[in-house]
Amino acid sequence: MAEPVELAKAAAARFAAEQYVRRGLRLALGTGSTAAEALRAIRARFPDEPFDCVASSRATEELARSLGFGVRPLAPDDRFDLMLDGADEVTPRLALTKGGGGALFREKFLAGLSAQVVILVDPSKLVDALGQRSPIPVEVVPFAVPVLVRQLEDDGFDARVRPGRSGGAFLTDNGNEVIDLRLPTPVEDPDRLHDELRARPGVVETGLFVGLADRVLVGHPDGRVREMVAPARPNA
Ligand code: A5P
Repeated sequence: MAEPVELAKAAAARFAAEQYVRRGLRLALGTGSTAAEALRAIRARFPDEPFDCVASSRATEELARSLGFGVRPLAPDDRFDLMLDGADEVTPRLALTKGGGGALFREKFLAGLSAQVVILVDPSKLVDALGQRSPIPVEVVPFAVPVLVRQLEDDGFDARVRPGRSGGAFLTDNGNEVIDLRLPTPVEDPDRLHDELRARPGVVETGLFVGLADRVLVGHPDGRVREMVAPARPNA
């Protein structure tokens, strides 16, 4: 018998495959267990369709290939119709924390090239403010790590270099390290925190995703799915 959280992810994935995926779409593929569930749901609904896909991680690329998706490298003029991805935290205004799997840079890069970004989560990911449930991952150039950790700790963060599986630091698919930040209080202004972190030399990207998600699908273990829609952007 599947765990409730797995049933919830599967419900969101099925819903996404039914409501948002059409034959021939150019797809940006997210990373993580929920994004993987989305791939399986798409394959179940469209057994023979390769789609035109770019993956946000080697892990996703491997899984997608094994399921028969047409995964290719990024091309100069790439734009995607749809990106499906998971998240570590989601606020009511659809700000996200991402990067629990370390794919934050490529996920954010592909999200920026996608006409529609749909995020799939189980209810445990819903928070009032970012930083409540998960640390904020920051992808950093390895050379800069000692200085960045000291600076971030001096600024009041609990800054920990993410450990790899076999000793040493975790390395992203870009060959960078990840510093996981725990904050003394939840994030009041994720945009401002992102800008402050991103401005430090050595920081490649942060796991704060603001204004990127168009919709969040919250799956429930009983199969129900709640859709959350991004608030209208000023001047949009
Ligand atoms: C990968 O780097 C992440 O952004 C994932 O999308 C996020 O950690 C959610 O992963 P799960 O779907 O496995 O919870």
